[in-house]
Amino acid sequence: MSSSKKSIEKKQPKKELFLGVKGMSDILPKDADLWKYVWQVGHTTSEVHDFHYIETPIAESAGLFETTVGVATDIVEKQMYVFTTKGNDRLTLRPEGTAPVMRSYLEHHLGYFASPLKVYYYGPMFRYEKPQAGRERQFHQWGFEIIGDSDPFYDAEIIRTSIDFFRGLKCKSLIVKINSIGCRTCRASYRESLKRFYHSKKDKLCENCVNRYDKNPLRLLDCSEEGCLTLRADAPLILDYLCQTCNTHFKAVLELVEDNGIPYEMDPYLVRGLDYYNRTVFELYSTSLKSAVGGGGRYDYLAEALSGRSVPAVGVALGMERVIHVLRAEEIVPHLKPRPKIFFAAVGDQAKKASMRLMGDIRMSGVVVVEALSKKSLKSQLKAADKARVPLALILGQQEVFEGTILVRDMQSGAQESILSAKLVDEIKKRLRP
Ligand code: HAM
Repeated sequence: MSSSKKSIEKKQPKKELFLGVKGMSDILPKDADLWKYVWQVGHTTSEVHDFHYIETPIAESAGLFETTVGVATDIVEKQMYVFTTKGNDRLTLRPEGTAPVMRSYLEHHLGYFASPLKVYYYGPMFRYEKPQAGRERQFHQWGFEIIGDSDPFYDAEIIRTSIDFFRGLKCKSLIVKINSIGCRTCRASYRESLKRFYHSKKDKLCENCVNRYDKNPLRLLDCSEEGCLTLRADAPLILDYLCQTCNTHFKAVLELVEDNGIPYEMDPYLVRGLDYYNRTVFELYSTSLKSAVGGGGRYDYLAEALSGRSVPAVGVALGMERVIHVLRAEEIVPHLKPRPKIFFAAVGDQAKKASMRLMGDIRMSGVVVVEALSKKSLKSQLKAADKARVPLALILGQQEVFEGTILVRDMQSGAQESILSAKLVDEIKKRLRP
């Protein structure tokens, strides 16, 4: 390189790299096997339980979540990515998948397709949270919803399906924490009694809980501040306030959960952070992560809030990033990728050009072919072949291109043989046969 060219290069100002958005991660090739493992088990679990795939857009009207998740929830109050479009529509990146699925159910009359309708979805969700371990601003959920039936059978089926997802992944640390938060009628009297209990103790509550006292007193039970936890120990319990119908419903769910051998714990303080729930609420808790990896419950009033129609439903969503953490914590290592069987070496321009067609033909027969064609010499390509630990290497040079042949090298014995390239795919299949 000439010295003048060098000095021009030196003078180039250093460009600042664009970095990914805070709290939103790339899925890198090194982690791809873990993700693919979860996707595969997710699809299989969903299909064997007879759920149908549904996909809704990433953006929805902001009002959809304000009406259903609740204006007094952290999600709507603080965490939504709301923006106004050029056409003046007030949209948001979806913070969760349940309200969009119900929106789609009502919009497309999906109740005519099946009753109840069983659907599953997978995709990114967005919440403007303080990023920390297990809390991202973009994360992925795998969700199951059963829409159109209030039978406790379906509450238990949703729980069984989620547990089967984890069993399919070979995770062992999962338990279900479960509670009932009653219906409109019995919850109203519980709310009042809770407010009466906390009324004289307001000065001992954290700032967040003081705000929640009027808007959403059940969430006081959810607070992890030490002072609030101490107060909670004497608070009234929802289970003592359930009406007869809610009580019977909850008992039936618990019986089914036991019948299915699902490890569970009653948690009378579990209320969930979204307003749309009634009756059964639950979380899938990992004892190795010491955190919830999924959560769900019954939401019989959500459709009514959107359309005035009563459509009972129940569902769950699993946080995929947290599922991946569980796999790591339990040292579960999936081996999914078919091992490469063929290394393709080509020397010279003609051979490199011909290699794409020949490799393509082999790949189309279902065999993984790897190469290192950016390396020019045969020696360095064969070194890469050694590293790839393949049984066969194919070597193509100018002469072979000219003759319409190719060299097949047995990587273990080092023996080489020239074959007709027109017969390549058949010949390889024969040699790779176990
Ligand atoms: P959720 O409890 O808000 O429920 O979220 C479900 C799961 O998503 C959580 O248990 C967690 O694993 C994951 N998750 C939530 N926020 C984050 C975050 N910031 N970073 C990483 N993971 C997160 C729902 O979303 C309801 N739609 C569930 C449902 C479905 N209910 C009925 N059907």
